[in-house]
Amino acid sequence: MCGIVAYIGHRDATPILTEGLKRLEYRGYDSAGLAVIRDGKLHIRRSVGRISALEEKIGGSLSGATIGMAHTRWATHGSVTETNAHPHCDASGRLALVHNGIIENYRVLRQFLEQHGITMTSQTDTEVLAKLVGHFYDGDLIDAVRRALREVRGTFGIAVLHMDQPDRIVAARRGSPLIIGVGQGEYLVASDASAIIQHTPQVIYLSDNEVAEVGRDGFRTTNLQAVPVTKEVEEVEFTLEQLELGGHQHFMIKEIFEQPEALRTCMRGRVDLQDGRVVLGGLTNVLRELVRSERIILTGCGTAWHACLVGEYLFEELARVPCEVEYASEFRYRNPLIPDRTTVIAISQSGETADTLAALREAKDRGALVLGIVNAVGSTIARETDAGVYLHVGPEIGVASTKAFVGQVTVLAMMAAMLARRRHMGQGASYDFLEALSRVPDAIEQALDLNAQTRQIAARFIETNNWLYLGRGPQYPVALEGALKIKEISYIHAEGLPAAEMKHGPIALISEGMPVVVLAVRDHLYEKVVSNIEEVRTRGGHVIAIATEGDQHISKLAEDVLYIPAVPPLLQPLVSVIPLQLMAYHAAVLRGCDVDKPRNLAKSVTVE
Ligand code: G6P
Repeated sequence: MCGIVAYIGHRDATPILTEGLKRLEYRGYDSAGLAVIRDGKLHIRRSVGRISALEEKIGGSLSGATIGMAHTRWATHGSVTETNAHPHCDASGRLALVHNGIIENYRVLRQFLEQHGITMTSQTDTEVLAKLVGHFYDGDLIDAVRRALREVRGTFGIAVLHMDQPDRIVAARRGSPLIIGVGQGEYLVASDASAIIQHTPQVIYLSDNEVAEVGRDGFRTTNLQAVPVTKEVEEVEFTLEQLELGGHQHFMIKEIFEQPEALRTCMRGRVDLQDGRVVLGGLTNVLRELVRSERIILTGCGTAWHACLVGEYLFEELARVPCEVEYASEFRYRNPLIPDRTTVIAISQSGETADTLAALREAKDRGALVLGIVNAVGSTIARETDAGVYLHVGPEIGVASTKAFVGQVTVLAMMAAMLARRRHMGQGASYDFLEALSRVPDAIEQALDLNAQTRQIAARFIETNNWLYLGRGPQYPVALEGALKIKEISYIHAEGLPAAEMKHGPIALISEGMPVVVLAVRDHLYEKVVSNIEEVRTRGGHVIAIATEGDQHISKLAEDVLYIPAVPPLLQPLVSVIPLQLMAYHAAVLRGCDVDKPRNLAKSVTVE
């Protein structure tokens, strides 16, 4: 969603800011803007559409400024117009502010300001905040920001500049991530480390309700009551190279092909084959409580929720712990029952998803042990959980999640195996499972050979606007994930279903030649899935089967077969999802869609 990058130092700020915005593009946005202070004046440029449009507008007009801030907006309050784009100014026009998040009580604040004769020019909640800070400003910028934020309900990550204060940026957060990059004689503020990593790997993660005043020679942080807060400098763990395309056409395909290596890194030092054990350092302090859990609740949104569904099979079958899966957005408002010895595991690639964060807070309030499975190191969810496991699959830039999904399932598999071993499983069975898990990256490598074949299949159906995806058991979440992938990036309508449910309604949709992707791997449900394939074929559907290598029988039933290597059924989702990712990718490319920046979507959804 929205992105922020700000700079103060001795270099030309504008290219640093626009370059930073480009690194944030993947989060999704619809307009962009920038403000710099030069020669004692505030200069603002805003534009609808891509950052290149903003760059064109700026041209060379702002060169020489050494302090500034920039923003990408993903519209929530007010349509996509230049007037609604950030930065927004206070009534004097001397103060500018960029904002991520939502000011929930903006109407009340707006009324308050209007009573003081201040009028708004945009439809945004952000402008209200800019004007409120301006209203409180009497020469002390950080104090004005603190006073304004004490009145605010809602979420914010903000950066503020004032023409009369050309040597400082004030930044603050609540609910929307914000970091300070520490360089040599220069500082950056950003909503995401990828915007600043090329300048410095040293960062400070602001916590909720903290305000920072950042100058050229240092910074100070306080809470909203002006009490000083000491912050630690941490190192960002990814490199600039990981943020580049490296010869690929899109981040999504790059990330699909990175999956074998990403999983090897995810498991490195954690799967101990010799001992038939899993060691997850992040869980050491809570291990006894976790092992004694009588119920596990897995929660997340989107693709992470699909990983939760696979996790349910892993925890119940392997660890024999009752497990439930909840959409984070539903859980948080459902008045959930959390008996003693419940562990809630929040899964999130970004670690910033608003609903997942709210769900974990709800679970915490109700006394559960709350764990996180997160990719983004230092993210809010990672910091608010009692303990957790990082994916270590590297930054995921493509909006459609791929390597994070397999990372999440792999971590769930490791956690389930760890619990199983400590609760009931013998060394031999544990060894067998872990040995199979450690061979999954090779199986994925083999499945990636389906790249050309998936492209051919996608090419035949680029005009078709309805697809079905069917699966049973642990393959059902894969059907959901396959359908979500194709929806997200190629705007094809697709439904994922438990195969047997098809005949309770969706079967009415099947018409001549409609593509129906069936996950028909050799497991104990294989015969049942074959019956579902027959039902589809009888009605003229075109079956694309994902089948186990060596299965000759299936080729007589399905029009297309994508063969994948066999791994144990509980781990098969890690491999069967690969051809579905590839097919969705090719469908999107062939339909001319913007694969890495699909319309209306955001990588990190920081609003409800
Ligand atoms: C957005 C993204 C999805 C993602 C979901 C959850 O909707 O477009 O790809 O699965 O958020 O994100 P998270 O960062 O919590 O995994």
